[in-house]
Amino acid sequence: MNFSKCRVKPGSKVDLKDWDPDDKSASPGSREEDEKRLQELATRIDELQELLYAESKRGVLVVLQGMLGMWTVTLLLKPLIVVGHLLGGLTIAALSWWNLLEIRHFPRQRGSGRLRIFAGVVLIVLALQIFLGGWTSSNYAALACTDFPKCQGQWWPTIDLKNAFVLWRGLGINYEFGVLGTPARTAIHLCHRYWAAVVSTLMVALILYTLRVADAHGKRIAWCILGLLSVQISLGVSNVLGGLPLLVAVMHNAVAALLLLSVVTLLRYSTSSFNHG
Ligand code: HEM
Repeated sequence: MNFSKCRVKPGSKVDLKDWDPDDKSASPGSREEDEKRLQELATRIDELQELLYAESKRGVLVVLQGMLGMWTVTLLLKPLIVVGHLLGGLTIAALSWWNLLEIRHFPRQRGSGRLRIFAGVVLIVLALQIFLGGWTSSNYAALACTDFPKCQGQWWPTIDLKNAFVLWRGLGINYEFGVLGTPARTAIHLCHRYWAAVVSTLMVALILYTLRVADAHGKRIAWCILGLLSVQISLGVSNVLGGLPLLVAVMHNAVAALLLLSVVTLLRYSTSSFNHG
């Protein structure tokens, strides 16, 4: 439909006599067709309005993310702030991705409640793994183990779990290069490693379940998750064995983001209606 002739140009005068009230050029179909189209457009406007509403709520998240970025520097690399910044960025990416899937009408599979719950559980487990990854990196614990699958040549090296997860140690401490002893860094490193085994097991189960119950779209998402998971584990192991090469570390972060988006895609695919609350 061409609505340009209905637009009033800035500065021009409007005279209603210039418009034909019987003009049918914007609705050339029958009355039934027009009513159907009108209904479709009303539904679409409804959806877009909801997205716009979600968009304005996200503004708060973007401001918070900017502040976390500032505090990362001014509060001298506090691990909690650094990880908050990582999780904030990924949350914004995931919500934006969800919106994009909405706008593009990415297909859904209706009536897949179990798949939805399963994808939701995997999303939470993955979020925890991302937290542990950020904690490993911000506490400079990547090189606490330089071998794999053993660590420091042992299956059970000395660890200090008590100090490993103290979230806040007060202001004024510079965290550059880390402040923890080797046993605490080893504990953090191993938690990220072992939790990766939990994530992988659950993800493989989710992939197998999706391949069993989903249609072609769902199966494609499942293969995508499998590919990303394999790449991510290889990158993690290369980080350890290669002594943390910069490119590998950056790619490990990027693939974590893609893995998150692919699980969000599966969650969206198995969610039958979008409710913004
Ligand atoms: C599902 C599997 C995994 C996910 C989602 C994941 C995710 C992440 C994330 C998000 C980070 C933080 C990156 C950053 O802040 O720069 C990280 C760091 C790290 N991950 Fe993983 N990871 C996984 C598996 C593994 C495995 C299997 C290993 C090793 C055996 C590993 C080793 C590391 C190391 C050494 C770091 C620290 C890198 C640094 O200091 O920059 N990861 N991981």
